[in-house]
Amino acid sequence: MAYQNYSKKDRSVLVPVFGPNEEILLPPSALNWLCKQPDSQISSLAAQIDAIQLGYSLGNKYAYDPWGGYVTKAALNSIMEYSYEAVYDEVRAAVDAWLGKDTEEWKEIELFSACRLIVGRATQRLTLGDSPEGHPLCQDQDFVTSCYGVLDGMLDAAGYLAGCRKPFWPVVGPWASRHMSKKIKDLATRIKPVYEERMGMINGKTAGADGQTPRDIFQKIISYGVKERPREAKSLDNITRRIAVLNFGTMHQTSITLHNLLLNMIGSDAEYDTISALRDEGREVLGEDGEGAWNKTVLNNMTHADSLARETMRLHSFIGRTVQRLIVAPEGVVAPDGVRLPHGAMVSILAHQAQTDAETYEDPLTFQPFRFSRPRGQSKDAQSTFVSTSASYLGFSHGRHACPGRFLVDTELKMIMTYLVREYDLEFPESYNKQRPQNTWFSGFGIPPLDAKIMVRRRKA
Ligand code: HEM
Repeated sequence: MAYQNYSKKDRSVLVPVFGPNEEILLPPSALNWLCKQPDSQISSLAAQIDAIQLGYSLGNKYAYDPWGGYVTKAALNSIMEYSYEAVYDEVRAAVDAWLGKDTEEWKEIELFSACRLIVGRATQRLTLGDSPEGHPLCQDQDFVTSCYGVLDGMLDAAGYLAGCRKPFWPVVGPWASRHMSKKIKDLATRIKPVYEERMGMINGKTAGADGQTPRDIFQKIISYGVKERPREAKSLDNITRRIAVLNFGTMHQTSITLHNLLLNMIGSDAEYDTISALRDEGREVLGEDGEGAWNKTVLNNMTHADSLARETMRLHSFIGRTVQRLIVAPEGVVAPDGVRLPHGAMVSILAHQAQTDAETYEDPLTFQPFRFSRPRGQSKDAQSTFVSTSASYLGFSHGRHACPGRFLVDTELKMIMTYLVREYDLEFPESYNKQRPQNTWFSGFGIPPLDAKIMVRRRKA
C-alpha cells in the first residue's frame, strides 16, 4: 500500500512501526539524491549502529569505530584476486563433506545447516585461512559453528532491540546479550593459535609459509591494528570481536542467499531445465573436466549462473528495506518532495516492492532463472548483473556505501553452484511435489524456509 500510494507517486511516507525510530519510506525516485547526501547529514554508519546495536552485543567501540569494515572494504578485491583457487578448494571439500560421495543412494540434506557450513568454510579461507595455523582452522567445523554461534547472538540481540523503544534498551540490551561473553570466549580460544602466529610474524619472530606474509583479511586487520590501534591489537578478546563483526557481514546474508538460490534452482528445474543449463555453462566456461582456473573472465562468462543469482536476490532478498540512513543533521533535512525528515528519523527505500514492480519487470512475481541471461562476452558493461545495483535492484543497496562484499558473494555462489551441479543430482523430497517451499516475511526481513530439505546423489564419474 505504502509503495503504490506513496513511493510510486514520488512521495515520502511515515510508517507506523513498533521499532525505536520514526521510520520514513522514501520513493525509489529519491535514490540518487539519498546516496549523494553527506554522511554528516544522513548517516549510513549511524543507521547501522541503530539497526545492529553492536554496543550491547560486542561493545560500543565496535559500533562507533568500525575500522575492521574499512580495512576489509579496501583490501577485499585484491585479496580475492589471488584467492580464487584456494576458495574453490574449500568449496569442493566442504560440499563433499556435507553431501557425501555415494553414487547409488539419494541422501536427504538439511539445507540451512549445509549452506551455513559451506559458506562459512569458504569465507573463512579468505578471512584467516592463508597460513599454517589459519588453514586448518578454516576447515574446522567446530570453529565455523562457533563463528555462527557469535553471529546468532548478535542477531538475537539486534532482533530484541529492534522491537522496543529506546528507553527500554538499557534493560533489554544486556538481557538480550547475556550469552555473548561465553560465545566470544569460545571463539577467542579457537582463534588464539592463529592470532599468536600472526602477531609473531608481525613482530618478526616467525615467518609465514615459504617466507610469505599471509594474504588474507585477518592479516590486514592485525597489521592495521598493530599500527593504528596498538592497544586493541594486543588483546585477543578485542581482535576476536573485530572478527565477529566481520563474520556478521560476510557469512550471514551470504548463506541465506545460497539457501534461496538452491531452492530456486531446484524449484525452477522442471520448467526451465535449470540444472542442465548450468552444467552446460560450467563445461563451456571451465572446460569439459571442470578444472579450468577461476578468474574474473570466468565469472563474467557465467551468464546463466549470474542471472539465477540476480533473480534470487530480486525476488528473495533478505532485506525488505534498503539504503537505510539515520537523519543526523540537528535541524533535519528536506527530501526532494519537500517533506522535512526530522533529526533521529530512519529513512529507507522499499526494496522488495521496487524489485517486483510490474512496470519494470514482466510477470514480476514469477521466478525466471534466466531472465537476465545475456550472450556470453557482453557481460562487461551489462547493467543487469548480480553485482550491478540500481533503483530496481537494491539487495546490496546502492551508491558509495553499496555492499563491497557483493563481488565475493558473486564468486562464492558461482563456485558453489557450478561444483554442485557438476558433481550431484539434486531434487526436492517427494512430499514437496516439486514445489519450492515459500519464504515468509518477518519484521521486514525475507526469511527462507529454515527447515527445507533437499535430496542429493553424487553423479557417476
Ligand atoms: C548476500 C550477501 C550480502 C548482502 C545481501 C549484503 C548487503 C549489504 C547491504 C544492504 C549493506 C548496506 C549498504 C548501505 O548502507 O548502503 C552492506 C554493507 C556492507 N557490506 Fe555487505 N552484504 C553481503 C555480503 C557481504 C560480504 C561477503 C562482505 C565482505 C566480505 C560484506 C561487506 C560489507 C561492508 C564492509 C559494508 C559496509 C559498506 C559501507 O558502509 O561503505 N557484505 N552489505
